[in-house]
Amino acid sequence: MSTHKRLSFDVTVNAAGERMALQIADAGNIKADNLTLSTWGSAEILANVLHRLDPPDLSGCGTLSSTHHVLELGAGTGLVGMSAGAIWKTNACLTDLDPILPNIQANINLNKALLAKYGGSACCGLLDWARPRESIVPFVPYDNEVFPSVRARVILAADTVYSEEHPELLTGVLVARLERSQKARFIMCYPLRIGYLDHIRDLWERLEGAGLVSVQEGREELGKEWDEDVPYEWSVWKWGSEVLGRGAG
Ligand SMILES: C[S@@+](CC[C@H](N)C(=O)[O-])C[C@H]1O[C@@H](n2cnc3c(N)ncnc32)[C@H](O)[C@@H]1O
Repeated sequence: MSTHKRLSFDVTVNAAGERMALQIADAGNIKADNLTLSTWGSAEILANVLHRLDPPDLSGCGTLSSTHHVLELGAGTGLVGMSAGAIWKTNACLTDLDPILPNIQANINLNKALLAKYGGSACCGLLDWARPRESIVPFVPYDNEVFPSVRARVILAADTVYSEEHPELLTGVLVARLERSQKARFIMCYPLRIGYLDHIRDLWERLEGAGLVSVQEGREELGKEWDEDVPYEWSVWKWGSEVLGRGAG
């Protein structure tokens, strides 16, 4: 399984190939969900795919609405969420389990000026997939950033399908947190490892069962420095007409 303790990641921000170097604080040996914190291959892939996607329509999100712009699930070091904040010039809320949050906040602090240069920002808070409807508790109390009260326009997830409980948990988070609108998108990435394929199949079936439809898919490989030849799959999802037609909220 490919992970990196690297302290800087270059991410492509636009079609002209401009790169920004995101700094990642040394996580030491922080652990959650039996994993030592590091940046996973899916995060490198997804962070570098974002600029090629149609930019999400983020109009109407924010302070005066109950819809947040961008939410990342299982953010880890936060590479994907921070990249989304810069590339889409918006606020991204990076969520994970409690033990991971101090490091995410350190990474946000390290990159605050860089994100601001691109018109973006990030905040972080606790969101346990087992309790998807709970308010997201800000890691920095009284942070000026707006916290997602109910739903998000875009939800991101990199390398979050590695056990048999994850498909059901993740589908539950999407049902609870993804805005019910034509503009909403769920974007995910995972490695196509033999041991994960059943979980991935299960996740796709559950997402489709919940009324989500995959509208864009791709496969990529990591650069040589990762020393891995497993393909990574990413996909963009939106709500199907059955869900939106029912006007569920
Ligand atoms: C394999 S890591 C991927 C991290 C990051 N997205 C990346 O690609 O570098 C999975 C992440 O999911 C988080 N996670 C696992 N179970 C979770 C749960 N029940 N609720 C929230 N986050 C969870 C872990 O703490 C970890 O940060």
